[in-house]
Amino acid sequence: MRPKAELHLHIEGTLEPELVVDLARRNRIELPAFDVEAVRARNDFADLRSFLDVYYDNLAVLRTEEDFHDLAAAYLRRAAAQGVRHAEIFFDPQAHTSRGVPLEAVFGGLSAALRDGEVPAALILCFLRDRGAEEAERTLRAALPFREHFIGVGLDSAEVGYPPSLFRRVFDIAAAEGLHRVAHAGEEGGPDYVWEALDVLGVERVDHGIRAMEDPQLVARLREERIPLTVCPLSNVRLRVVPSLRDHILPAMLDEGLVVTVNSDDPAYFGGYVEDNYEALRRELGMTGEQLDRIARNSFAAAFAYDPRHGGGA
Ligand code: HPA
Ligand code: ZN
Repeated sequence: MRPKAELHLHIEGTLEPELVVDLARRNRIELPAFDVEAVRARNDFADLRSFLDVYYDNLAVLRTEEDFHDLAAAYLRRAAAQGVRHAEIFFDPQAHTSRGVPLEAVFGGLSAALRDGEVPAALILCFLRDRGAEEAERTLRAALPFREHFIGVGLDSAEVGYPPSLFRRVFDIAAAEGLHRVAHAGEEGGPDYVWEALDVLGVERVDHGIRAMEDPQLVARLREERIPLTVCPLSNVRLRVVPSLRDHILPAMLDEGLVVTVNSDDPAYFGGYVEDNYEALRRELGMTGEQLDRIARNSFAAAFAYDPRHGGGA
């Protein structure tokens, strides 16, 4: 299995149905049914919004520092088995603080799991764009006492209607703190969202970015500046951003000379972890070993915090 870095992974999206049921029992939280198959049965999505509704519902079972620890520890074990040598992991603090979970529990649990995990990993704090710019700024300020626990900020959740430019101020504050900057753009939103993420937010990587391919000038910009794109093929199929894997634009992105990486996004929901994404590209799209090797090399080059002395490597 080829060594790789994973750069687009929401830790909340690794909450497997089995863990939903276990944590619900542990925390005495009522589920409609304490049944793994009933939880899994909801994983059939029409679009990003319908996925996010299920994703946020399931988070109700995450309450304590131990819960966050167990979630991240389980991911890192799976990541190791999938050939991941370095991970930069998104988390959504507002999805927890809005339910009354203290930031201390989120940072405490995730950081302890990363410290003890078998794969070197770092955290990227994501703002939920549909909760607006003011709350994003309050969230960043509340997280700054935990500054040593995260390396960057990102932007996720419902994309259309929440353009990157709304978040200029909070990204400026993050930049002044020396934090890396990324944003989801060009998943459901158009190329204009990718332009804004680059020009207004100063992002160093674009998450998804597949709709950038609709704009040749944008493709040229991404190529010339070697801006990495964290593409998530199985996610795109499950969220019906592309009709099928066979129609995925990823090989064309590679042919354009873009710094493409392959990632799992929310593997508990989208039918596979990162090696499963690589394998699906080989099987369904006929991508060659040479192409997949290039993608894996890109993943290390695109990482912010990869240290080949600790991470094994490409
Ligand atoms: N897109 C936007 N927001 C998200 C995603 C995604 O794929 N996964 C978790 N939050
Ligand atoms: Zn994502």
